[in-house]
Amino acid sequence: MNISDPISLFKQWLDEASQHQAIADATAMCLATAQKDGQPSSRMVLLKGVDARGFCFYTNMESAKAKALQANPRAALCFYWAPMGRQVRIEGLVEQVTPTEADAYFESRPRESRIGAWASKQSQPLVSRTHLLEQVLAQTLQFEGGEVPRPDFWSGWRVVPSMIEFWQEGHFRLHDRDVYRRTDVAWEHSKLYP
Ligand SMILES: Cc1cc2nc3c(=O)[nH]c(=O)nc-3n(C[C@H](O)[C@H](O)[C@H](O)COP(=O)(O)O)c2cc1C
Repeated sequence: MNISDPISLFKQWLDEASQHQAIADATAMCLATAQKDGQPSSRMVLLKGVDARGFCFYTNMESAKAKALQANPRAALCFYWAPMGRQVRIEGLVEQVTPTEADAYFESRPRESRIGAWASKQSQPLVSRTHLLEQVLAQTLQFEGGEVPRPDFWSGWRVVPSMIEFWQEGHFRLHDRDVYRRTDVAWEHSKLYP
């Protein structure tokens, strides 16, 4: 295990999970947020980029998660790759990705998904599924024959890690836990009892 750079180690584990036949989507991760009053909330999102700066996902900026992150810019992520007996936990502050980064990812999505982004008022009450489909149709007609630009209300967040923990399942519950905490100059590594 490379104990000096947890981002490289994460990329290695993600690559291995992505190549594993029994793992449908290695980029699926649980995102936990907390409102200002401390009430936590979690849901799955997809990892769409990772580098030394952090871990990115994309969403509607008026969704419940985005409102929580605006009020309290801290998040936790959790990956679980069951067939490999591996879990990775990440904690840190969040920042919004740049408009250029958001544009680049939005443009890479299928046209139907881009139209869907315009049609969905994510996390708001919906009268009926029919209403949603009507909105999709309306947006499809609106953009017919043209490009589908990124809505202002759709962008991404980067979780800037201050802590990353790698958990590897062991026999008889003697799991391996490697924790990395970011200091001003480097990552500090330690091990934890399982
Ligand atoms: C595997 C999986 C991946 C998902 N990926 C995303 C994603 O990348 N972005 C997103 O906004 N919602 C994603 N969702 C939907 C979220 O889990 C959630 O329902 C939605 O974002 C609304 O959450 P909120 O009301 O807490 O903001 C995904 C759901 C699943 C099950």
